This record gives sequence, structure tokens and C-alpha cells, in this order.
Amino acid sequence: MYLSKDIVKEGNQILRNTSSKVNTPLSSEDLECLKGLYEYMLVSENDTLVEQYGIRPGVGIAAPQVGVNKRMFAVNFVDFLDEKETKYLWTVINPEITAKSEEMVYLPGGEGCLSVERPTTGLVTPRHYAITVKFQTYDFMTKKIKTVKKTLEGYPAIVFQHEYDHLDGILYTDKMYNIEDLEDIYPLFEYEEE
Ligand code: NI
Repeated sequence: MYLSKDIVKEGNQILRNTSSKVNTPLSSEDLECLKGLYEYMLVSENDTLVEQYGIRPGVGIAAPQVGVNKRMFAVNFVDFLDEKETKYLWTVINPEITAKSEEMVYLPGGEGCLSVERPTTGLVTPRHYAITVKFQTYDFMTKKIKTVKKTLEGYPAIVFQHEYDHLDGILYTDKMYNIEDLEDIYPLFEYEEE
């Protein structure tokens, strides 16, 4: 289980490196790292555990954020999937974004990141409204890896793009703009209501 002290912070070169592809089957080191990312997501959705471990909760965490330059992350879309979706916490290995919508959106209020501790309010990060992704996922119950292809829309798509950027050494703070300076872009929730 990774704790706050294990999170690599903005300014560290590790967050700026391009991470390398993960070999499968997973090495014991990679599996250990992935398990830590997965557990961080599990703890994040439980207020009591968040307090107990003293962590800052998040909806995504990428391997470089714990000092490992490998192309993997964990995400938790617990509040944002339709009724049929039973699995919402994913480990993501070697992701690819195979298609992107032209429509651009941003999270009103801006994004946040476990590695960024300064306030960035008032600035927003443009993201594609929808993306099609392909990745491998490791299931800790069955101990098996499978390939997932999926189209994500809205909030999950934004989270995925944010985590994906970490694997290329990019932080959301590299892509922040004043809303007034952006054209043809919508605040996420307003866009979804139309
Ligand atoms: Ni982040």
C-alpha cells in the first residue's frame, strides 16, 4: 500500500520521463507496483480508510507517481458508470488511445493530481469528450490478464486522458488555460445535459 510519503511530487524528474512498456506476464516487481496502485484506489473510495491511512483520495494513480516509469495506472470510475457496469476499478497496462472525439470539454473547477500540491483553481485543461481505448488489465481475483477495448465518454474519458499523460511525462498543469482563451470547448456537465 502506497502512502502519502510515497507519492512523487511535481518537480521530480520521474514525472517527466517517458515510461516504458510493461512486459507480460507481469514481473513480480511490476505486479507489486500495480497492486499498490489498485489498493490506493480501493482505499480512496472508503472515507474511514482514507482517514486511517492519512492519504489524499484520488480517482486515478499512475506508476510514475510512485516512482516507477512503467506504462500502467489504476482508475476508479465508481460514480460514473451506467447500471449494467459492475466492474469500475481497473488496472490499466500498456494503454493506447485509438480514437478521439473532435468535441473538447473541460472539468469545471479544473483538474487535480496527487503529485500537484499547489492550488490551480480558475484554470482548466482541455480534453477530448470521448476516446476509444485499448489496454490490458490484471484481475487480482482471477490473477489473469485480459485485453479491454472500450469507448469512454465524459468524466471517465477525462480521467483516462489525465493518467495516460503521466506515462508520457505530461502533467495537467502543462495544459492549463484561462477559460476565456479557449474556443469551441464546453464545460463537461453542461455539454452532457444538452
Ligand atoms: Ni495526476
